[in-house]
Amino acid sequence: MGNDTWNVLVTGAAGFIGFHVAKKLKEAGHSVIGLDNFCPYYSVQLKNDRTALLQRMGISCVTQGVEETQKLKELIEKEKITHIVHLAAQAGVRYSLEAPEAYLQSNIDGFLSVLEAVRCHPSIVTVWASSSSVYGTNTKLPFSEEDRTDSPANLYGATKKANELMAYAYHHLFGMKLIGLRFFTVYGPWGRPDMAYFLFAEKMVKGEPIAMFGRGMLRRDFTYIDDIVEGIAGALSCPKDYGVYNLGNSHSQSVHQLVTCLETSLGCTALLREVEAPAGDMVETWADIRKAQSDFGYAPKISLAEGIDRFASWYKAYRTV
Ligand SMILES: NC(=O)c1ccc[n+]([C@@H]2O[C@H](COP(=O)([O-])OP(=O)(O)OC[C@H]3O[C@@H](n4cnc5c(N)ncnc54)[C@H](O)[C@@H]3O)[C@@H](O)[C@H]2O)c1
Repeated sequence: MGNDTWNVLVTGAAGFIGFHVAKKLKEAGHSVIGLDNFCPYYSVQLKNDRTALLQRMGISCVTQGVEETQKLKELIEKEKITHIVHLAAQAGVRYSLEAPEAYLQSNIDGFLSVLEAVRCHPSIVTVWASSSSVYGTNTKLPFSEEDRTDSPANLYGATKKANELMAYAYHHLFGMKLIGLRFFTVYGPWGRPDMAYFLFAEKMVKGEPIAMFGRGMLRRDFTYIDDIVEGIAGALSCPKDYGVYNLGNSHSQSVHQLVTCLETSLGCTALLREVEAPAGDMVETWADIRKAQSDFGYAPKISLAEGIDRFASWYKAYRTV
């Protein structure tokens, strides 16, 4: 990450990826401040526990909606922000069929707010979260940044694609440095309780059946959190001024394989309940990561078995607290 000391704003710092990024950047010697609206999409207790840990490391987290542009501008000026990692968003594919407005507010208005705030300070480097969901109904694998991304399978993917276009326009108009990262199914300790690996773990330890979509044949490029954090740190020093990059593990694995890893690590057998895959879910994701490898040395290291083992150790300890 170089020898410079940065003043970094991490939006979505109470969230899964934001928490890990804030911690990593602080450990690397940077000054870090977080922002999050602590929305109740999933356990606010978990978000509070993450930020309590950050607080103990000297990272405060401002409770604020990222779409509040004036407040965001003031924060950036007050803290003399040099770098932004923008992760605040309404995440989750299935919830976008239930609460589409939340996606427009956090992902479209929120993203515009970041662009407008940074427009006043074009020297700020902004790395932000796109998603593998932009590949939508594409069938050519692995997914490459050169592929078309104009057929999103859900509104969540559509908002992330819109963000990529908005970022390009602002870069083109104002010369802002904006690097978008298409994350592929990120998992790990302190993870998101709405995601399959976490939901499955909760059911498995209670001896309850887990809902298995499409006979467990859906496939994902599961990416361990530390690899993503390394990728974000690398992207902050990316020599390019604009780009979108896949950040995956570069292996596609079935949900069945995920369950097998969970069984081994949690030491229990999963009871399966077969159900139809919900509308909006992609059949398979798989990242071609050569562009990120070549532009900022991205090199994921952690296998699914090892990553799930680390998640399970954290999960067992956390649920007994
Ligand atoms: N985890 C994944 O597998 C994955 C995959 C692809 C993309 N992403 C993207 O990465 C980013 C981080 O994801 P995550 O998994 O950490 O999700 P997360 O939900 O744990 O974190 C997002 C955080 O943003 C906050 N937030 C939501 N709306 C906000 C708003 N309007 N103002 C301020 N804060 C707001 C939430 O309270 C939450 O703490 C998101 O942009 C997400 O879309 C994640």
